[in-house]
Amino acid sequence: MKRRHFLSISAAGAGSVFLAQCSRVSTSSTNEAQKVAQSFSQKSLPAVYTSTDGLLDLDLEASYKTINLNGKPATLMAYNGQVPGPRLEARPGDTVRIRFTNNLPDPTNIHYHGLNISHSGNADNVFLSVQPGETFTYEFSLPEDHPAGTFWYHPHRHGFVANQVFAGLSGFFVVRSDLDEIPEVKAASEAFLALKDFQLDDEGNIASPDRMAVMMGREGALVTASGQVNPSLSIPANGLLRLRLLNASISRFYRLQVEQHSMQLIATDGGALSAPVEVKELLLVPGERAEVLIRGDGEASPQENRTPGSYRLLNLPYDRGGMGMMGGNSMGGMQMGEGHSMGGMDMNSSDPATSGETLPLATFTYSDSPQNEIAVLPAQLIPIEPLPAAQNTRRIELSMRMLFMRGMAFTLNDKTYSEDRTDIQVPLNTVEEWEIANVDADMMDHPFHLHAAPFQVISRNGQPEPYPAWKDTVLVRGGETLRIRIHFKDFPGKSVYHCHILDHEELGMMSVIDVQA
Ligand code: C2O
Ligand code: CU
Ligand code: CU
Repeated sequence: MKRRHFLSISAAGAGSVFLAQCSRVSTSSTNEAQKVAQSFSQKSLPAVYTSTDGLLDLDLEASYKTINLNGKPATLMAYNGQVPGPRLEARPGDTVRIRFTNNLPDPTNIHYHGLNISHSGNADNVFLSVQPGETFTYEFSLPEDHPAGTFWYHPHRHGFVANQVFAGLSGFFVVRSDLDEIPEVKAASEAFLALKDFQLDDEGNIASPDRMAVMMGREGALVTASGQVNPSLSIPANGLLRLRLLNASISRFYRLQVEQHSMQLIATDGGALSAPVEVKELLLVPGERAEVLIRGDGEASPQENRTPGSYRLLNLPYDRGGMGMMGGNSMGGMQMGEGHSMGGMDMNSSDPATSGETLPLATFTYSDSPQNEIAVLPAQLIPIEPLPAAQNTRRIELSMRMLFMRGMAFTLNDKTYSEDRTDIQVPLNTVEEWEIANVDADMMDHPFHLHAAPFQVISRNGQPEPYPAWKDTVLVRGGETLRIRIHFKDFPGKSVYHCHILDHEELGMMSVIDVQA
């Protein structure tokens, strides 16, 4: 049986962790609950590594691995044989030591996206290159005041980033702290979903890149949530599910909605909000994370005798823009690369794959032991201090340019990436305000990501943001101008900022920032 086979290849070693988590579900006796338990046990939950006595210590290997993806063998790039890779969990003040071995045929490295740690040495250093066959030990410590939150790790060796992430390399990195101790949050059951699309050829290999698809930002036709197609999850009836979401796709946007439920947003990229914010829809662009609470009370009023149903987490259509005037017929002439178009990525249409149909990403059912009292939401979370006025301002323009004889260039302030050029120097301990402008009104959206420090969005096209939040990745739509404020307070050294459509990053939409002590 295919699914058994799947379990045996990809869940080995993770079984015990997983069984502990779902014992509540699997002891129940109704058919509904059995279905839930079954789908849970078929889940390829990644291994979890948790710090003990202040140390998170593990071996991590990147290699090709054939795993079962949606009932078919797929040869992907995996961390420790798993897609997504193991989930790492630590606390503020902990030391993290990762003996990383590269068993891929190309160089790679590891970026700890969103973690507030050093950007140099053997910490979050994107300029490192770990060669094939080489082992490199990452070691860093999380500051004592590191916020709780949902972070992630993925390769960041320029020239190989997009292909390696597209092929499956990424994993959650969770920091647990004060947010996790808020009683209502602590009482919630917890689930993790890494949203990731794949494009496979007939042999189950990652499809070779099509030139036009790369310019649009590749999207795969097979959309997964933590390595599964439409997995089942449970929401405690009358209780709360804390869902941690990551967009681990290189280009695809997710416009999320849960049928008949609103979501309470409690955390963004950099950690907790001051208080939950109710949302009906949540747009998650590549690199972004969000934590939401979902209450198992459907649309029913408390008095009503509710029949538990199933509710889908949907991905709604979204148009992330095209090549504007470059689209339509002129595209045909530019399609000179391999000349074929991949399934689900028809680049002759002016719409990218995301503007297509609504897709279920996961399905929720209620666990069958309803609490008598409906769970209350936390009134307050972790206060966010607005950043003080900026000491310096800058403007960064995101743009796509047609270069004579060279095709399309993806630029930041008219330049494509060079590792040898420092684009911005910032003195440590300053607050800056950046105007991030996507100057191509009719062209593509770009998710802007900064490594050096977390930021707060002040306004979009002059409209103040409705609530403060810590971000490291933010969508800048075609024609839009954002103002963000950044306090470069902790870590000097060089790092980068870039478009998190990783195909665009590879095409040059990245720059170097040097924070100087
Ligand atoms: Cu998630 Cu520079 O990347
Ligand atoms: Cu990053
Ligand atoms: Cu982009």
